[in-house]
Amino acid sequence: MSADSPRSQSCTCIAPINIAVIKYWGKSDEDQIIPLNDSISLTLDTDYMYTKTTATISTELTKDSIILNNEEASGDGVRFQNCLSEIRKLAASSKHASTVEKSKLKVAIVSQNNFPTKAGLASSASGYACLVFTLAQLFELESHKSELSALARRGSGSACRSLFGGFVQWFHESQPCVARPIAEAEHWPQLRCLVAVVSNTSKAVGSTEGMSRSVKTSKLLEYRIKHVVRDRVEEMKMAILQKDFVKFAELTMQDSNQFHAICLDTYPPLFYMNSTSQAIIQLVHRYNEIRQNIKVAYTFDAGPNAVLFMEEAELNRFASVFHSFFGSIPHESFFRGKVLDPVDSTKDVEALGPDNALKGQVQYTIVCHVGQGPKNIDPTG
Ligand code: DP6
Repeated sequence: MSADSPRSQSCTCIAPINIAVIKYWGKSDEDQIIPLNDSISLTLDTDYMYTKTTATISTELTKDSIILNNEEASGDGVRFQNCLSEIRKLAASSKHASTVEKSKLKVAIVSQNNFPTKAGLASSASGYACLVFTLAQLFELESHKSELSALARRGSGSACRSLFGGFVQWFHESQPCVARPIAEAEHWPQLRCLVAVVSNTSKAVGSTEGMSRSVKTSKLLEYRIKHVVRDRVEEMKMAILQKDFVKFAELTMQDSNQFHAICLDTYPPLFYMNSTSQAIIQLVHRYNEIRQNIKVAYTFDAGPNAVLFMEEAELNRFASVFHSFFGSIPHESFFRGKVLDPVDSTKDVEALGPDNALKGQVQYTIVCHVGQGPKNIDPTG
């Protein structure tokens, strides 16, 4: 934390995004943001994608304020205020007099995503995780890891998972309702992820509204909660702990498909995937067929962008195939975040059956691995 003056202090942190492989979709309590089921996610590294937040407290400030991606946002937004008032409550109950004093001051937040939110990449998870983590650093509450997860949850459900690195489970029945790590990021170092940014012009219904509509209308969601997701969470946990890629991949794809089936079963229906997303699904299944094993898995959140998982040994080969089908810019600019070695994919493309109509349907792809939780980036932090 840097002390700008005795009456003003600020702190800057970054937080990662997370991708659910067992999805959260549906709340039992909309105000408290309590999910209907447990979910499991992977935290992605912050080499390319993260939210960066600076929080300042000062005796000079007369109101709380928030600037999001260079635009003044409403400081009295319910979720923002919920997070803020909960963290102030935690600070006010501290045994440290300085923390109690700080909890009485107004805060100014400046937050920026370094990835294009307009491209439909999830930003609320890293955004709220970063807000809560940064305020906790400022108020010296960083040892309260579990409470912080519950606080981030009040901003956006999936944000409670972004407080941790590695493989994370969010427990719907825990008291308080929080996420906890299943395994550290280093547990499965071979795992790789490609985030494919799909051209998207249509405006989708947001997750909050979409899941509330599903809870009210989808019988399939009811079925999932009663009969599917409990066992699937346990199986996924085992697959992760055993680093069983085939099982992990199968469960990931099945859970994404069930989530999007629920979206179609919602009335009126929710269309998050588009024809490019469907083409990506087909390519992954065909690719796994010609490789005679499950080498790649896909998952889709509430939008058309694909998140693809594979182990490192498959990365360059699959990436070149993927580029051949969907890319219209050179290999080196199509893959961002890390440099990949191009591989001659002529034989694979022939076996898969080329389809020139797909060219340019994916704008670019971000190469990631499983990464760490939020961190303070102040030089003195
Ligand atoms: C499809 O966390 O964005 O990404 O809690 O209403 O803010 P709210 O919803 P949000 O929903 C995320 C839904 C999802 C699946 C997931 O991340 O588990």
